Amino acid sequence: MTTQPFGKKGWTPTQIGSLANKTYVITGANSGAGFEASHLLLSKGAKVVMLNRNPSKSAIAIEKLKTLLGQHIDVRYIQLDLAQLDSVRRAAKELLATTPNIDALICNGAIAQVANQEITVDGFESQLGVNHFGHFLLCGLLFQRIEDSSGRIVIVGSNAYKMGLKRIKFEDLNFDQKYTAWNAYAQSKLAQMMFGYELQRRIKAANIQVEVQVCHPGASRTNLLMDTASTFNKVLWSVMSRFIAQSAEKGAWPEVMCATQDNLKPTTLYGPTKRANTVGPVGENTLVPIALDEEMAAQLWAISLEKTSLNWPL
Ligand SMILES: NC(=O)c1ccc[n+]([C@@H]2O[C@H](COP(=O)([O-])OP(=O)(O)OC[C@H]3O[C@@H](n4cnc5c(N)ncnc54)[C@H](OP(=O)(O)O)[C@@H]3O)[C@@H](O)[C@H]2O)c1
Repeated sequence: MTTQPFGKKGWTPTQIGSLANKTYVITGANSGAGFEASHLLLSKGAKVVMLNRNPSKSAIAIEKLKTLLGQHIDVRYIQLDLAQLDSVRRAAKELLATTPNIDALICNGAIAQVANQEITVDGFESQLGVNHFGHFLLCGLLFQRIEDSSGRIVIVGSNAYKMGLKRIKFEDLNFDQKYTAWNAYAQSKLAQMMFGYELQRRIKAANIQVEVQVCHPGASRTNLLMDTASTFNKVLWSVMSRFIAQSAEKGAWPEVMCATQDNLKPTTLYGPTKRANTVGPVGENTLVPIALDEEMAAQLWAISLEKTSLNWPL
């Protein structure tokens, strides 16, 4: 059994000191764990730049944060649709022009359990496109600024990485054969996490000072399935989540910890530690080896560069 670094109660936001003069960039921050993470970071004096796809929801989220914390908070939003590589490029350009420092980029936004196969404008299965390829491109485009800021990248994964097919289906990335919502979501979260650990290895080999951490929120009561899942899964989750899930706020703790806490380790997955890592104190989870498969990760890296037309010589 793992010895937990923050004891029985796990990591809590009491560990965070002042975040004045720090800037956090977070995708998908107008609801759920992303909104709660923004709230927590702002409450400690940080600046937050939300990268959100929906302008009206973003305006409402910012207004809510100001009501909760005061008009003085430093929060703004840049429009970004992770489902469109051109939108990711535009958002990264605007961010670089307006944001001198990035202390952490939190790759939080996602879609899940998309009921029927959907293909993005760039030709990707929608969950792989939004959750992995969109974030891969964003990380690559912002990497130099993050390095110049001695900053971090936080990948928000999921327990789903160890479910589904437990591999990247390179021969049929889009699940043109036998699409299932669960297998395609699981592949996309495994891809994100494999990318995170591959990035750690490449950064170490290049002797660069950028920290990468990988975490997940466990089972949290958020909007995650509400837009995209089948009616059956939506109803099932809205009933089950009352009993088996924790609040969105608790779900945000692992990503906030990974963005702010010193002395975290590489090759580790941080998340809730009770009931099969779905709820409870935040600490280290046992990592299933598939996430550390170096051969598959190298292949995924090469394909990700090609699919996003990114030049990232790392
Ligand atoms: N909730 C859970 O039990 C659970 C379990 C495991 C992992 N996770 C992970 O936790 C993270 C946060 O999810 P959540 O549970 O907080 O769900 P959520 O409330 O649905 O939040 C997801 C966010 O992602 C945004 N998003 C979706 N598609 C996007 C796109 N194309 N471009 C930009 N942003 C987009 C959504 O924006 P809109 O408001 O515009 O839809 C929303 O703000 C995700 O990475 C998810 O995979 C959650």
